[in-house]
Amino acid sequence: MAHKILIATGGGDCPGLNAVIRGIVKRAHQEEEEWKIYGCIESFNGILKDEIEIVELTDQMVSGLHVKGGTIIKTTNKGGPFHFPVKKADGSWDIQDRSQLMKKRLDEMGFDAIINIGGDGSQAISKQLMDLGINVVGVPKTIDNDLSSTDFTFGFQTAVQIATEAFDKLVTTADSHSRVFIMEVMGRDAGWIALHTAIAGGAEVCIIPEIPYDPKVIAKKIETRYKNGLGFCNIVIAEGAKKADGKVTGSAPTAVGDRHIKLGGVGDVLRQELLDLGIEHDVRVTVLGHLQRGGTPVAYDRILATQFGVKAFELVKEQKYGNLVVYHHPDISYVPIEEALKQPHLVQPDKDFLVHAAKSVGMCFGDE
Ligand code: F6P
Repeated sequence: MAHKILIATGGGDCPGLNAVIRGIVKRAHQEEEEWKIYGCIESFNGILKDEIEIVELTDQMVSGLHVKGGTIIKTTNKGGPFHFPVKKADGSWDIQDRSQLMKKRLDEMGFDAIINIGGDGSQAISKQLMDLGINVVGVPKTIDNDLSSTDFTFGFQTAVQIATEAFDKLVTTADSHSRVFIMEVMGRDAGWIALHTAIAGGAEVCIIPEIPYDPKVIAKKIETRYKNGLGFCNIVIAEGAKKADGKVTGSAPTAVGDRHIKLGGVGDVLRQELLDLGIEHDVRVTVLGHLQRGGTPVAYDRILATQFGVKAFELVKEQKYGNLVVYHHPDISYVPIEEALKQPHLVQPDKDFLVHAAKSVGMCFGDE
């Protein structure tokens, strides 16, 4: 009998997901024994819905897939086996625990294991599924790079590249119009995308969640720059940025089953704060949003994602379940999933050389 693996991609999409899928399928088909690889459509919804939606992934289907952005098996950041939204006859929603149904269906279909490709939310689900007796191997995915235990998650370098290219464009228009530009980037509670982009682009100011900002410090930096004859200023701000009061800017989720606050709008907040402090220059805001997760993965992410896919298959083959594939330069290895979930990977302002390097070339973080 053939071995069977079910792959799911969960959470926000991310450049490199398809390269992981291709890596798993191609590696599995190198084996002498028969391995059949299936994709669960729209994360675990494919096996939780009344009508099951899973598809066998053939070599033909994954050929050339490493170049393609998004995920061919779809994703969602809502619901999941333990919080599955079901629409009732009266139009209202019921949240059901369908995890036992999922286990039953996996057993009936004869799956050896699941490979769950996702960020911290998805890996928390991996851990819960393991506790139910389902065999899971995790693969870390997120443009935010906020998962500990791995040097990098795939998708991050692509997001930084996209943000840097956008930033470079804003610099020339800021210069031409002598404007202040605030560019808001993603990253949730982690400042990695903002920090890397600010250094790559040469931003004057970089605001990250890990360093509470004071608008007065930023206003002073802007005025000093204009006085010195450089009549423009470019700021990168992370969506999770906050002042000393710790409040983030965002809105409550509107989609059924989505339990996460939607961060966004802190760039506009900062603009208003600068105007209230008397900044008279033209201050403009650009929010990059989902552009950062779309399109073709850069070479680095294709390479990392391919290695993650190969390793994930090998962990299943060796029955090393309950582990997350990780990258510790130069090795691709693994750690227990719960280990990776203990703490998020955030910028450490006093320890990370990146922050030191940025400050050393005159970048302001809004704190001093
Ligand atoms: O975690 C990835 C990410 O893109 C974050 O940077 C962002 O805050 C969030 O997902 C947005 O998610 P969505 O708009 O898809 O709900």
